[in-house]
Amino acid sequence: MPIERNRPAIPADECAAAPDEARSSALDLRPKSFAEYIGQRQVVETLEIAVTAARQREDVLDHVLLYGPPGLGKTTLAHIISNELGVPLVHTSGPALEKGGDLISILTHLKRGDVLFIDEIHRLPKIVEEFLYSAMEDFAVDIIFDKGMNARSYRAKLEPFTLVGATTRAGLLSAPLRDRFGLQRSLDFYAEQDLERVIVRSAGLMDVMIDLPAAAEIARRSRGTPRIANQLLRRVRDFAQVRSDGCITAPLSCDALALEGIDALGLTPLDIRFLDVIIEFYKGGPVGLEAIAATMQEEPDTLMDMVEPFLLKAGLLLRTSSGRKATESACRHLGKRFFKPESRQMDIALE
Ligand code: ADE
Repeated sequence: MPIERNRPAIPADECAAAPDEARSSALDLRPKSFAEYIGQRQVVETLEIAVTAARQREDVLDHVLLYGPPGLGKTTLAHIISNELGVPLVHTSGPALEKGGDLISILTHLKRGDVLFIDEIHRLPKIVEEFLYSAMEDFAVDIIFDKGMNARSYRAKLEPFTLVGATTRAGLLSAPLRDRFGLQRSLDFYAEQDLERVIVRSAGLMDVMIDLPAAAEIARRSRGTPRIANQLLRRVRDFAQVRSDGCITAPLSCDALALEGIDALGLTPLDIRFLDVIIEFYKGGPVGLEAIAATMQEEPDTLMDMVEPFLLKAGLLLRTSSGRKATESACRHLGKRFFKPESRQMDIALE
């Protein structure tokens, strides 16, 4: 059966799928095609080839797993894949699918070639995940009726579809789930030049004037993440409108971002508190994440997803076999004394 391309998005009002409209304002600045997408060249190129090949063969695209820190474009790429394939995307997430039935009702509504996007796929309950195995591999689900002696199972055929899974924690996916994705790609932090281009493009879409030094200043403080770049741009735009003539310059960006508590490296008050706790409370570390989280009264998962990846990338944090350690650069950046590690203590760097 041919793929019905360019059908509108499925109104996902039932089941555990959320309507696309709810996300429309966040999506406005996001690119809609591979051609508009800035950065992640290798990932974009592989996806573009796979999508074009599937379209040419009138075939269904392989399942795709995208992983990496938050805000780097996993959801954007899932939408681009469905746009470029000309098929609807149904958006749901691991924690929204509580029971097998939640997933089955979404799967049985999919048409041939549709894209099912599961965000935070590492948070799928095990019982739901088990339905995905046959759905992904055989395009079928086994539905069990009754219990014990009377239990009967019925194999429901599904239309072939593409699952796009996104996760910040690829390591938490079970091997059987991970192995069923034909395409697996990790997204990395963006180079500052790419973020500058993202900011100039977004400013154009928002119809605000920005000069290149200002784009560079905002890019430098965006922690390698386009979502943060666009958030900061919005704050600077508001500041420029209220405190100036609406044009965004570098000195104005510095003032606006200082007011937001964003420092010269882009560290937020949460990042600074995290490093501060390690340096002041635990003498620079090593210290376990649970202890840091308890001291800060934050969730370890939040720190692991939202704080640690960029600090590791920026060389401000080390993850070793004996715990987290603040680096000498972190101490220098925060103007704190660096505690030299004990010379006999051997730590193995994990990242
Ligand atoms: N907006 C957010 N992410 C983007 C990207 N990668 N390219 C262009 N615009 C973006």
